[in-house]
Amino acid sequence: MWHCGLELTDLAVRKIVIAGNWKMYKTQAEAQEFLRGFAPELEKTPDDREAILCVPFTALGILSQSLHGSRVRLGAQNVHWENEGAFTGEISAPMLVEIGVSYVIVGHSERRQYFGETDATVNLRLKAAQSAGLTPILCVGETKQQRDAKETESIIFAQLAQDLVDVDQKNLIVAYEPIWAIGTGDTCEAGEANRVIGLIRSRLSNPDVSIQYGGSVKPENIDEIMAQPEIDGALVGGASLQAASFARILNYKLPN
Ligand code: PGA
Repeated sequence: MWHCGLELTDLAVRKIVIAGNWKMYKTQAEAQEFLRGFAPELEKTPDDREAILCVPFTALGILSQSLHGSRVRLGAQNVHWENEGAFTGEISAPMLVEIGVSYVIVGHSERRQYFGETDATVNLRLKAAQSAGLTPILCVGETKQQRDAKETESIIFAQLAQDLVDVDQKNLIVAYEPIWAIGTGDTCEAGEANRVIGLIRSRLSNPDVSIQYGGSVKPENIDEIMAQPEIDGALVGGASLQAASFARILNYKLPN
């Protein structure tokens, strides 16, 4: 479905985007095995839901071939800002495009926390992704400590202000991922995620940007999350690794 804006005069619609983030999981063989279970489930998925798999670089080639002609789009989990150069261990946007990638996660909290990602490098990666025709999924969110100190809003607003300088908001997805909810099973309460996502939207120049929630999304809570008016999708880690559970998330049900 499409979520309508709250203003009656606002005819714009926001796309529903459900993305799996496999992180550093699955060999090529395991990725193929996942698809065997997942592909049949897609028949039940309403047409207007975008399904994305953000997989390790090593699985991109084989999945690009296997997903050819399918509705599932392929995503990467990082991208460098130069097209080529002496940057050992990095991957450029044209390399991803050539292999059939359409989306890329940028600024995930694990990259910010463990690999020295800063708002300045997030900004460079977002612009490079867009220049090559990729749609970046920008992750923002606060730590538990920041939430407890009532800094949630200021932290997120500061991230958005720095990350989005000269970024084209017509080709962008934002994911609100409270860090304390990632991989912990401790989901942010749906109403609270809705509130923060509404605040994020108020800071964007384009009100039609799809904003996802991420952090311990699972089959048991996806229906409640997607029933929230501000939430346009989900970025799913652990629960995207099993075909049945990611399919149930993609095929979420709204109350009648
Ligand atoms: P999780 O991860 O669903 O395992 O909490 C979400 C993410 O890191 O994008």
